[in-house]
Amino acid sequence: MEDYQLTDGVVWLSRPTSADIDGIVECCQEPSISRWTTIPVPYRRVHAEKFLDGVVQGWAEGRPTWALRETAGGPVAGMVDLTPEGKDRTGGQMGFWLVPRLRGRGLMSRAVGLVCEFGFRPDRLGLVRIEWRAMVGNHASAAVARRAGFRYEGRLRLGGPQRGVRHDVWIAGRLATDPIGPAAEWPPGV
Ligand SMILES: CC(C)(COP(=O)(O)OP(=O)(O)OC[C@H]1O[C@@H](n2cnc3c(N)ncnc32)[C@H](O)[C@@H]1OP(=O)(O)O)[C@@H](O)C(=O)NCCC(=O)NCCS
Repeated sequence: MEDYQLTDGVVWLSRPTSADIDGIVECCQEPSISRWTTIPVPYRRVHAEKFLDGVVQGWAEGRPTWALRETAGGPVAGMVDLTPEGKDRTGGQMGFWLVPRLRGRGLMSRAVGLVCEFGFRPDRLGLVRIEWRAMVGNHASAAVARRAGFRYEGRLRLGGPQRGVRHDVWIAGRLATDPIGPAAEWPPGV
């Protein structure tokens, strides 16, 4: 698949490249990012290099990863990926992180919206369902998913492996046919 850049004029999403290595290493020192994701700890340059190799392969195989930037050519400030899954590859799972200094401005909700639109488009990935999972307690991530139209679907016991330990995870899904806009009916406390 060719690289696609996505933007709504506020966030810019583009494939991370080798020019982003230092930026990625710096971002991934952030404890709140390692706390809620599966990145290696401690995160070193070699991890970013391996990650970028995987990104190139991912794009070639239709598993896109975008760096989130505040301007078209700006430094990397976050990451969003979308992985088609299953035999027919009509379902996908997404993941994301954002540096603390940009949080609280709805940037990741915008990015997730753009990525879902891309994932559902018949002339892009043509997905019918996109799934979000987060370790139980990750309320900031849940708020992003809810705002991006994902509906809460439950809790998977020990459903999420993280660096050798499994954790309970929340799961939510958005269908191509779901209305755009924040989803209602998330249980209190999620
Ligand atoms: C998840 C993440 C991308 C959200 O970024 P963001 O949207 O800019 O974050 P915000 O600070 O705006 O928080 C989003 C919502 O969560 C709420 N929130 C933030 N931190 C919270 C916390 N510790 N407890 C409860 N709610 C929290 C905010 O109030 C906001 O809700 P609102 O819009 O209804 O007021 C960011 O927090 C992050 O990168 N975290 C670390 C990595 C991660 O968790 N990735 C997702 C893995 S599934």
